[in-house]
Amino acid sequence: MCGIVGYVGSREAQPLLLDSLKRLEYRGYDSSGLAVVGASLQLFKSEGEIAVLEGKMPRMQGSIGIAHTRWATQGKPTTVNAHPLTDCAGKIAIVHNGIISNFMELRESMTRDGHTFTSDTDSEVFAHLVESEYKGDLVQAVMKAVSRIEGTYAFAVVAEGRDEIVATRRESPLVVGLGDGENFIASDVTALLKYTNRMVYLEDAEVVKVTKASVTVFDASGNVVPKTAQKIMWNLDDAEKGGYPHFMLKEIFEQPTAIHDSLLGRIESLDTEPFFQGTPYSSVKIVACGTSYHAGLVGKYIIEELSKIPTTLQISSEYRYSPVSRENPLIVLITQSGETSDTLAAAREARKRGNKTIAIANVMGSAITREVDHVIYTRAGPEIGVAATKTFVTQLIALYILAMDLGTQNRTLSALAKRSVIGQLRNLPRAVQDVLNKSSEIEELAKKYASARDMFFIGRNINYPIAMEGALKTKEISYIHGEGFPAGELKHGPLALLSKDSPVVAIAAKDHTYEKMLANISEVSARGSPVIAIGYEGDTDLQKFADDVIYIREIPPLFSPVPIIVALQLWSYYLAKERGCAIDKPRNIAKTVTVE
Ligand code: AGP
Repeated sequence: MCGIVGYVGSREAQPLLLDSLKRLEYRGYDSSGLAVVGASLQLFKSEGEIAVLEGKMPRMQGSIGIAHTRWATQGKPTTVNAHPLTDCAGKIAIVHNGIISNFMELRESMTRDGHTFTSDTDSEVFAHLVESEYKGDLVQAVMKAVSRIEGTYAFAVVAEGRDEIVATRRESPLVVGLGDGENFIASDVTALLKYTNRMVYLEDAEVVKVTKASVTVFDASGNVVPKTAQKIMWNLDDAEKGGYPHFMLKEIFEQPTAIHDSLLGRIESLDTEPFFQGTPYSSVKIVACGTSYHAGLVGKYIIEELSKIPTTLQISSEYRYSPVSRENPLIVLITQSGETSDTLAAAREARKRGNKTIAIANVMGSAITREVDHVIYTRAGPEIGVAATKTFVTQLIALYILAMDLGTQNRTLSALAKRSVIGQLRNLPRAVQDVLNKSSEIEELAKKYASARDMFFIGRNINYPIAMEGALKTKEISYIHGEGFPAGELKHGPLALLSKDSPVVAIAAKDHTYEKMLANISEVSARGSPVIAIGYEGDTDLQKFADDVIYIREIPPLFSPVPIIVALQLWSYYLAKERGCAIDKPRNIAKTVTVE
C-alpha cells in the first residue's frame, strides 16, 4: 500500500502536492518524492517520512506534478527506490501503488533492449515500458504499457513538455478530484478534500487523461467512458479511515486484498525460486510475541501437515534464556513491526547459536530484516490499529507459502497436493469476503453479549490457537477478560470458572475433532454458560447445543483458521464498539513494543 497524488492547474504544484501527500502518510511512510513539470521535469525524493523530504527539498517550479509516499514491497526503503521513478532519459516520471508480479521478466527483456535501471523496484519497469511505447501520445503509451503488466496497480505518469497527467488503475485505488480550472488525482479522497469534494472513481483498467481544463476517461480499448462526479460529504478524519469509524474495522475489511497481494506472484514461483534450495531441515522452531505468536501456533499445524517437519514454538522473551539444544532447527521469527525488541534479541541469539533464521515481517527494511538470513514479507500494508488483524492473516499466508516450500524441498508434498493447496489459497479472499458480508449479523450478536465480564474461547487442533487469538483480540480492545483454551482442557480446570455470566465462544469447524467439540459445547451448556458457536453453513446440529451460531461457508480444515479469525476479529470489534472503548488505541498498550 502506497499513496499517490497528482495536480494539474494554475497554482504552484509543489506545496499543494506536499500538503496532500501528508494526508496519505498512513498508507506508507518509508520514503516519498515529487516530480514537477515546469520548464523541465524536476524530481526530488528521500527515504524516511514526508517531513524528511520537506526539510531538504529545493523549490520546484511548475503547476503540474505527481507525488508518492511509499510502503516498500519490492526493493529496500531507500532514496534510490523512492518514487517517482523515471525512464532512461529522465523525461517521463511515474508513481505506482501495487505489485508488478512479472517485473523480473520485463526488466530482463528491457535491459537486453538497452534500458538502464537505477532502482531495485518492480515499479521502474513501467517507466521504461512507457518510454518505449511513447510516440507523442501519452495516453496510448500508458495503455500499451499496462497491457504488458501482470499484477495490481495505480499508476500516474507525467512527461516533460506535456501539460497532463495520465493515470490508470487495476485493483489499487485511484480517484480523480474535479476543481475549477484545476484537477487532481489521488489514492483516496483524504488527500483531496481540502481542495474539492467532487470525485470521479475509476474502474479497473480505465485510463484517465487529466489536464487543468478537462478529465477524459478511456476504457482499455481506447473508447471514451462517460463519468458522473460524486459529491463526498466526509470530513478529513472519516476520509482517512475510508469512511470506517475505526482503522481496525478498515483493516479487517482490507483482508481480502491483503491476502491477494500476499499471494501475488509467489506461489507460482516456488518451484523456480525456493527459499531453501538444497537445505533439508529436520526441525523448525517458531519464535514470536502476542498475535504473531498465535500465527506461529497455527503455523506449526500448517508446517507439520505440508512438510512433515516437526515444529516447536517459543515466546521471544523466553527463547533467549532457554538452554541451547543439540538440534539445529530452522528459526522462524514472526513480527509484524520487525521492531519488537524481544524478537530482535531472539534473532541475534539464534544466529549466535549458529541457526539459520528466517523472518516473517510486514515492515520492509525494519530492524529484524537486517538480523536474519531470509525474509518473507507479508504484504498487508501499514496497520494503524493497535490490534493486529490483517497482519495476522497475512502471516498465516506467509506460513502456508513457507510450509509448501519446505514440503517441496523435503519431497513430502506431492505436486498434486501442492496444486490443491494453491487452489485453496486462491479461494481465501472470497472466503474472507463471505465472512465480512456477515458483519451486521455479528454486530447484532455481539451487542447481546457485550456486558459480559469474562468470556472464554475454545477450539481444537488448528483452531485452538484461533481461540487464543480471539481471546487476545477481545481482551485487548473490549477489556472483557478473555481466555482461550484447547476445548479438551476444559475439564482440567477452566470448567470451574463457568457460569451464566461467562459466555463461551466455541469454534466448531467440521474436522476430525468435530464430534468431540460438540460434546464440549454440551458440557459447557450444562454448566449454564451461554454458547456462541462458529460453525459451517448447513450444520443444523450446532443449533441444538449452542445458544447462537455464527455460520461461515465450509472450508477444508487446514484453511479454516483464516475465515474463522476474521469472524472473531469482527466479534471483538463489535463488543468493544458496544462498550464504547478506544478501539484503535487501547489503554496501556503500544503498537510496537521496543522495550524488553
Ligand atoms: C496484538 O493485537 C498486539 N498488537 C500484539 O500482541 C502484537 O502482536 C505483539 O506485540 C507482537 O508485535 P510484532 O508482531 O510487531 O512483533
